[in-house]
Amino acid sequence: MGRPVVFIPDKVPEEAVRYLETVAEVDYRAWEELPGEAKFLQGLERADGLLVYSRHKLKGPVLDRAPRLKGVCNIAVGYDNLDLEELTRRGIAATNTPDVLTETTADLAFGLLLAAARRIPEADHYVKSGQWKGWLPSLMLGKDVHGAVLGIIGYGRIGSAIARRANGFGMKVLYSNLERVPRDEAALGIEYAAMEELLGRSDYVLVQVPLTPSTAGFIGEREFSMMKPDAYFINASRGAVVQEEALVKALAEGRIGGAGLDVFEREPLPPDHPFLSMPRVVTLPHMGSATRQTRAAMAMKAAVNMAAILQGKRPENLLNGQVWKQ
Ligand code: DGY
Repeated sequence: MGRPVVFIPDKVPEEAVRYLETVAEVDYRAWEELPGEAKFLQGLERADGLLVYSRHKLKGPVLDRAPRLKGVCNIAVGYDNLDLEELTRRGIAATNTPDVLTETTADLAFGLLLAAARRIPEADHYVKSGQWKGWLPSLMLGKDVHGAVLGIIGYGRIGSAIARRANGFGMKVLYSNLERVPRDEAALGIEYAAMEELLGRSDYVLVQVPLTPSTAGFIGEREFSMMKPDAYFINASRGAVVQEEALVKALAEGRIGGAGLDVFEREPLPPDHPFLSMPRVVTLPHMGSATRQTRAAMAMKAAVNMAAILQGKRPENLLNGQVWKQ
């Protein structure tokens, strides 16, 4: 029997490729831009393993084009791009990359909050475009972050890392989550609050939940109407957890103060999207985990998961445990 083939369509840090070459033949395409579907399907045909970022959707008929597939290793903590049920039915193991991106994503989420509150991108543009003619008393007035109330909706690893940063800024942290986290309540002084209470009390509402059927669109008009009129909404998790139209409306009608968004319902944002002309909205191109160190660690974690699958060992970050029992 020949060596198994691992297909890596995307550009990934080379260490991960070198590592996988010790256990498999690696079909590495290093695509920076997303190629047409035909090229992707071509790679899938002979793949025993697949290493992908979440921009590749492994759902529906595309799986019929991968007859040899034994494992899909996402280079991401989120896995809403995978149809886990269908992968399990086909006996294909799926993995993700938790932990290694927690701190980096928390840095970005907190940076986004600061950028929105203190109008940093807007001010940068103001200076660079030559509009700055002198110091003015009311120039670029923003909103205080220190001492403000931060409400975190969805309190997992990244939520907890954000709370630690907020603590350093002297913020009061509320959190809403399926389960209480007594460890952080004691260590960080955070306070559990029901969603309605959190929305009503927070100066900054930050959502950090995975996208699942139960979180899709779970923040909508009703939730925005409960927020303070000068509160900011921050999202670095997944765009589709928010009803974007409701957010646009709340911002356009001045019912909330502003927003910091790293993720959107449709990525990239269409050129005519209302957010693009809203100065009180800071927009980023889905870059929560985008540092050289973290992307290298994520790719390596995915590669280690893949090597385990190909060697018949249970991978550390297995998402569908049932395939191992089958
Ligand atoms: C993740 O790891 O889920 C990031 O959002 C990249 O998709």
